[in-house]
Amino acid sequence: AAAPDLAGRHVVVSAGGTREALDPVRFLGNRSSGKQGYALAVTAAARGARVTLLAANTELPDPAGVDVVRVTSALSLREAAHLAAKDADAVVMAAAVADFRPALYATAKIKKVDGVEPAPVELVRNPDILAELSAGRARPGQLVVGFAAETDHVLANGRAKLARKGCDLLVVNEVGEAKGFGTDTNAAVVLGADGSETVVPHGPKEDLAEVVWDLVSARLA
Ligand code: PMT
Repeated sequence: AAAPDLAGRHVVVSAGGTREALDPVRFLGNRSSGKQGYALAVTAAARGARVTLLAANTELPDPAGVDVVRVTSALSLREAAHLAAKDADAVVMAAAVADFRPALYATAKIKKVDGVEPAPVELVRNPDILAELSAGRARPGQLVVGFAAETDHVLANGRAKLARKGCDLLVVNEVGEAKGFGTDTNAAVVLGADGSETVVPHGPKEDLAEVVWDLVSARLA
């Protein structure tokens, strides 16, 4: 069994993908299954942490010994994240959060009308939860970890994103067809604000999760 190096710690993990409603039956979403976030939650619990898992639209069973809070949209995830972060030692944002949401929500199902072209969907920006958590640390010494899903120029984009978001660690995983979203495996480079670079070879999502907790644990100590 792993050393209980996170005993006495409270960690918050987000998982899954947000859904941005267009009307009562439709949404804009993404392909996140929640597997990477759940792997983080399960491994942190095994290392002794109290874990709050913010689950956005996942179909996975609740992990034993983890507090699961269900969220839907980016705005609902934001509220739950700020609440849970209040007494957290570390927050890890593995959820795929929509950058934009529809400007208007139709309270009744949008209907097609014969001979009428559909109206374009106007989008507005969602708040950047990771940047907010990083800028306004809810607790002194709190660690904030982000994920970055990149399809190209992975490392250069990752360094720029780390600086922009202001987090302590950024897990940069390459996504694309059969990579990242929905799979049981992942590969990543974890970039530290201190300049560190940790390469995690392709393997189970739990392996990447353990490396993240190693880095978090070392920085909390
Ligand atoms: O769920 P799986 O199927 O296992 O797939 C895992 C994963 C590929 C979704 C995961 O490993 C991953 O990369 N998650 C982050 C996906 C993402 O939204 O990346 P991004 O580059 O768009 O966002 C960067 C970071 O900012 C993320 O930590 C994200 O949670 C956060 N963010 C983004 C937008 C926003 N409005 N608020 C945020 O907090």
